[in-house]
This record gives sequence, structure tokens and C-alpha cells, in this order.
Amino acid sequence: MKKMLDLLSAEVAKAFAEAGYDEKYARVSLSNRPDLCEYQCNGAMVAAKEYHKAPIMIANAVVEAMQGSEVFGEVQAVNPGFINMKVNNEYLSQYLNGMEKDERMGCEKAENPKTIMIDYGGPNVAKPLHVGHLRSAIIGESVKRIARFAGHKVIGDVHLGDWGLQMGLIITELRERKPELVYFDEAYEGEYPAEAPFTISELEEIYPTASGKSKQDEAYKEAAMQATYELQHGRRGYQALLKHILNVSVTDLKRNYANLKVDFDLWKGESDAQPYIPDMVQKMKDGGYAYVSDNALVVDVKEDTDTKEVPPCMLLKSDGASLYTTTDLATIVERMKLYNPDEIIYVVDKRQEMHFIQVFRCARKCGLVTDKTKLKFLGFGTMNGKDGKPFKTRDGGVMRLEYLLKDINEEMLKKIQESRPMEEKEAEETAKIVGLSAVKYGDLSNQASKDYIFDVERFTSSEGNTGPYILYTIVRIKSILRKYEESGKKAGEGKIGAGRSDSEKALQLELSKFNSVMETAFEECAPHKICAYIYDLANAFNKFYHETKILATDDMEAQSSWISLLLLTRRVLETCIDMLGFEAPEKM
Ligand code: ARG
Repeated sequence: MKKMLDLLSAEVAKAFAEAGYDEKYARVSLSNRPDLCEYQCNGAMVAAKEYHKAPIMIANAVVEAMQGSEVFGEVQAVNPGFINMKVNNEYLSQYLNGMEKDERMGCEKAENPKTIMIDYGGPNVAKPLHVGHLRSAIIGESVKRIARFAGHKVIGDVHLGDWGLQMGLIITELRERKPELVYFDEAYEGEYPAEAPFTISELEEIYPTASGKSKQDEAYKEAAMQATYELQHGRRGYQALLKHILNVSVTDLKRNYANLKVDFDLWKGESDAQPYIPDMVQKMKDGGYAYVSDNALVVDVKEDTDTKEVPPCMLLKSDGASLYTTTDLATIVERMKLYNPDEIIYVVDKRQEMHFIQVFRCARKCGLVTDKTKLKFLGFGTMNGKDGKPFKTRDGGVMRLEYLLKDINEEMLKKIQESRPMEEKEAEETAKIVGLSAVKYGDLSNQASKDYIFDVERFTSSEGNTGPYILYTIVRIKSILRKYEESGKKAGEGKIGAGRSDSEKALQLELSKFNSVMETAFEECAPHKICAYIYDLANAFNKFYHETKILATDDMEAQSSWISLLLLTRRVLETCIDMLGFEAPEKM
């Protein structure tokens, strides 16, 4: 279905033409004075310059030509030359009935679906998930769902951090604790036995211990670096250990992400890209892009228009070791080869922006991608505590994601039990569902690039711009529908009728924006636009609900049309929260 604004623009364009003016001036936008009108067109002001006439004269003529249009209700020319409009109530309700009939509620599906890869999550193997990884998971998941809804082929890749010094540290620590393991035998050639030589809780304790030791003990650190080097250069026993670490770690990560309702199509990692490095580096050398500077192999990526310094891209260190940059470049090679994406979106902390500027430029310069391949860095800001500093535990440590979610769920449970009696089990289930909405909405309602304050109290509140508020609204609608059906009537049999009150019309106007919001959210990778929209929609619904005796009226025709309106409102809200990655309970 066409977007409402386009339909209205087309109608105004006819009037411009009829009045003798160019149609290009007929762009209609949402009113920024909702107290005066619903839509406006400021084209007469611009046209005035071309036609050397007072804008109000043009506006008057256009308004004149609009008389009798079935699309508009009131139309007015206002000094100095605005055209203020209200849409015809009948026309609006027809539009909503069209949405209702359409499986996609008026959203067009991409005509030429693209293959889009999304790199998000980015957890580091063997380290527990902490709040720093929360944003990438939440935003990436939402961007993935939005792109999929738009009709594209989307591949989500977790891109594990499984190739750094942390691996060498774990191996070194394991070696101190269990020197008898076969994997430490230098001549180890075998495959690895299925049983891992450690559990996840051991693993989670080993890494911080090793990391702490390496900071105090130079020799220990040397050993860890040596182990990393040997691992990366094919030592079989260490590679077997790496597989064990990966298996144990990934099982645990999957459980954690499942709790967040975040999932990935690919569980690949930095280590998968390593085989592509030698060839890639050779080509960069042969192409004359890579050269040795200060013993390291680099590629220049600065451009004349740079306003800040963009250092060369470092491919190999003097000892031949590869870096984060090398791995990301090789991952691009791998992705192009295996999936041939039209676009790769990286959902990563914005403090890594320079890294991605270098990687993208280098990939283009060296021809790792085609001219058409889009590489997009979706950098997000920091999640801060109430003190405005990066979110920490009470004693100042890094907050583990599991504990953070636990805190939220406990707070939510308390609130739910205070508000209405519910069985223990049901209350806990509900707290989980609503708690997730609190975390995700609290995050996604901010523009991704901005920092925000993680405020448990505010996020879990059922009032204001929060996830629980949206869910309350949906639950309210469900409850009205349930009562309606309990009275023996069937919901959805009536047509949505022309708005009978201001609040009913306001709700209808909000609903009609759905396709346009979804389009923008996709084009701009902006889940926060969906949040802003459903907040407005929920407010419009609640106002309508408070002013309308939906179940108590004896106007049956009005009632069945309102019920249809509720059904559509629920569908739009539920589709939107699905895009944000959470769902609504039956009751709360
Ligand atoms: N593992 C990285 C970190 O924790 C994030 C990975 C982001 N993705 C990428 N392709 N570099 O910082």
C-alpha cells in the first residue's frame, strides 16, 4: 500500500497543477501544529519565488482547487502561505480497512531483496558476557528483524572473539594446573577426545585469574604470548584445546542469548577467518597496496578530505602476527566468498569507529569488496549507571549480563506482585517477559549512537516511555477483546468506521503511519523510531480508551467497529515489539 503521506501529496499535486503551479511543490508532511491541523504543505512558500507571487495567493488558489476532494476534510490557507489540512475521516478509515486486510498491514516488501549480513553480539570466548555486550546483541537483533521484515535476506553472525591473547592466557593457566593433559605434549598429533578437560565455571574462573597473573608476572605474560603464537601457527595440541574452549563457551553463550531472545544464523568467529589471511596479504603486497613501515606491514588509508588523522591500516606486526584489523579484513574476504552480501552492517561500540574506518577503506582500496558492497558501521554509545559512568556492579566490578537480567527480573516481580495477585509461577514467567521488555526498550528507545543511563527503576515502571507501559497497553487491549468475546460476540466482524471523536481519529491517524515508520526504521537502521512510534500509538490508544465506553455502549455498530480498530492496534503494536525483540504476556 502507498504511504498516507504519498497519497495526500499526490492529491495536493493535482490541486497545484489545476491551479497552474508545478506539482513538485506539493509535498505534504505531518503537521507540526497538531492543535491546528493534521497535515501541512509548505510548498506555496517555495513556489512563490519561482512565480513571483505572494505565497498566500498561491496557497489560496491551491486550496480553492482542493474543494470537493474526497481525500481531505478541512483545508485552509494560512498566512504567510501554509496549507493546513485534515484528512477526511471516511478516507482515513478506508485506509485502515485496507491495512487490516493486508497481511503486512500496508508495508511493501522489498522488490529487489538484498543479502544483508549483520555482525553483532561479538562476545569474547571464555569471558563471561558482560553489559558491554548487551547493546550489540539488542540492537543487532532488532536491526536484523527489521531488515527481514522489509523483505531482505538477512544473515546474522555472532562473530566470536576467539583468536586473541585470551586464548594463550587460558592455555598457560591450564598448563600450570593440569600439566599432565595430552594437549601439552609437543608432539601431540591426535584429534581431541570428546570430553572437555574443564567445565564452564572453571573456564570462567581461569580467564580472569590468568589475566590477573599476566599483569603482575612478566614471565607468565611471555608464556601466554608464546602460547598464543604457537596456537596461531598451528600447534595441534593447542588447537584441540581451542576447540574445547569454543565448545564449552559457545554452549553457555547460546543459553545466555536465548534468555535475551537473541539468535544468530552463524556462530563463526575470528578464528574462522585465519585461513584467508596469507592469500589476502599476498594479494595486497602484489597489488602494491601493502608495504613495510617500521618493520610492520601496512596499507595507507588516509584521504585528502580527512579532517582527523587516519593512521595506516596495520596488517602484520614485525613478528608476523596478525591483528584485529587483519582478522576483520579476512572476515570480509570470507563473507564475500561464502555469502556474497550486498551489505554488511557492524553493530559495535562506537569507540571502535576508527578501526572500522580503516578496515572499510582498506577493503575497498584493495578490492576485497565490490564497488557496490555497502559496509556500514552502526556504532553505539555506552550504557552508563546513574552516576553517568559506565555501568558497574555495586562494588565497582564489571557487571555480568546474567546478574543484570536477574536484578531487572526481581524488580519486575516485585512490581507485578504489588499490582495484582498472581500465582507464584505465573508471576515469575510474567516478570521474565516484562523484564526483557524493560531492558530492550530502555536500550532501543535511545538513538543507538547515544550513551544512556541504565535506570532499573525507570525502565521497569509501567508509566512513561517504557517497555512495560507498551505491554500494559497491549494487555489492556487483549483483555477488552477477551471480555467482548466472552459476551458471545465475535471480534473483527465490523469494519473500522469513520472516526466518531477526536481521540478515535487521533488513534486512526497514528495507525496509518505504520508503513512509513517501518520503512524509515529500516532505511536508517533506527529501532528507536519504532519505539517513538509505539509510544505515541499507545498514548493515542489509551486516550481513546479512557474517553470511550467500548464495552458499555449500546451502539452495536460503533462497538463492532471499535473492536476492529482494537484488533488492528494490537496487531501493529505486536508487530512492532516483535521488531524490537520482545513479546507481550496474556496478563500482567
Ligand atoms: N569481540 C569484539 C569486542 O568485544 C567485538 C567484535 C565486533 N565485530 C567485529 N567484526 N570486529 O570488542
